[in-house]
Amino acid sequence: MARRAGPLTAGSGMAVDAGIPETPAFVYDERRILARLGLFQRLCRASGARLLYSIKAQPLTGLLALIRPGVSGFAASSLFEARLAAEALHPGDPGAAALHLTTPGLRAADIAELGRLCTAISFNSLEQCRRFLPGLNPAVAAGIRVNPGLSAADDLRYDPCRPASKLGVPLDELRAALAAEPALAARIDGLHFHTHFDGREPGSLRDTLARIEALLGPRLQALRWINLGGGYNPRDIAQADAFGAAIRAFRERCPLAVWLEPGNAIVGGAGSLATTVVDTFRRDGQAVAVLDTGVHHLPAVFEYQRPPCVREARPDAPHAWLLAGSSCLAGDLFGVHRFAEPLRVGDRLHVTDVGAYALVKASRFNGHDLPSVWLRERAGRLRLLKAHGYAEYRRQWTTPASPAIRSLEPASPGLAAADERAPACS
Ligand SMILES: Cc1ncc(COP(=O)(O)O)c(C=O)c1O
Repeated sequence: MARRAGPLTAGSGMAVDAGIPETPAFVYDERRILARLGLFQRLCRASGARLLYSIKAQPLTGLLALIRPGVSGFAASSLFEARLAAEALHPGDPGAAALHLTTPGLRAADIAELGRLCTAISFNSLEQCRRFLPGLNPAVAAGIRVNPGLSAADDLRYDPCRPASKLGVPLDELRAALAAEPALAARIDGLHFHTHFDGREPGSLRDTLARIEALLGPRLQALRWINLGGGYNPRDIAQADAFGAAIRAFRERCPLAVWLEPGNAIVGGAGSLATTVVDTFRRDGQAVAVLDTGVHHLPAVFEYQRPPCVREARPDAPHAWLLAGSSCLAGDLFGVHRFAEPLRVGDRLHVTDVGAYALVKASRFNGHDLPSVWLRERAGRLRLLKAHGYAEYRRQWTTPASPAIRSLEPASPGLAAADERAPACS
């Protein structure tokens, strides 16, 4: 681990955060993002697919600017994401790049603006489609999100093909609707599905495409495009080439424009969270280190109940420490990790592979600031992309209609005493 005062190096010997003055801080590695984009570009060259980046994974504009030259556009899932993506894609140059959107939560109030911002909208249900298609800007490609009925995730919470799924139209229902409603069939020119989750191999993608071909037959051939969603995460060139071959084989049978919209695969492994030990003690014989972060910054740790990877930990090291978050939640824990030396206040640790979905889901629970965000540029220099601070916290929690907070002093000594008696959360 790294002592605050000493040289900041990880076990690998690579300098990890020299120059970051304060933690918690997300640190993104530019070279890794570019390498991941390079892998997907290779896949796209081999298959003829086009690449979008799904900004829900990490929409910070400093990173979108880095990703933008390597993709054909962005994928969004709400009006705000679409606005931000459009700003990042083509300031002053509308229409220069693709912007795809799908969401179960499409609202009547949003559709006109989405029609100006997006190049493609995939309706999540036939009901949503029938309601909004007639008023949709005719320049927007209209698609339907389908539920191909083949689960690729083993956890129901992350399975868009679960029973009674809210995500997408079952293929037989779509086939019947396209046959019965000529106006619908004439306007819909694409399909979307997103059913994969951290997929390393293309087997399940192949099966999904085969099922769509089998169930839609000539209806599929009549379309112009298909968006295969995200959730593909090839580890290396061989796996990327296997995805490329699967998509190419599909396109040879079915000559549609194919889009991919990964998020996690582009930024997940490129981001780590630097954190500092702020307290240490023993409880019931267990050494505990409290960190200046917690599950409010890394909600997936609590959601999955899976300890995160800590760069400085080694499975065979002698000292076992329970890493605890700094919030009032008793279960705000990162699990027991082993270290070469006992942890001390001021030690810096790094949680790895947390570049996707952490910051977008993070909160200021207990009034803890959000982590700042840094980019390690190709040349090794660290650049601050975003810091938050009290002003943003105050803006979030100040109600404009209420009287201004005139004083930070309690109104009366009695009130202060009552505050001290208020029950703490646990
Ligand atoms: C519709 C859609 N597209 C793309 C993605 C990106 O998935 P991933 O980050 O796993 O690549 C998601 C993630 O939830 C999604 O819902």
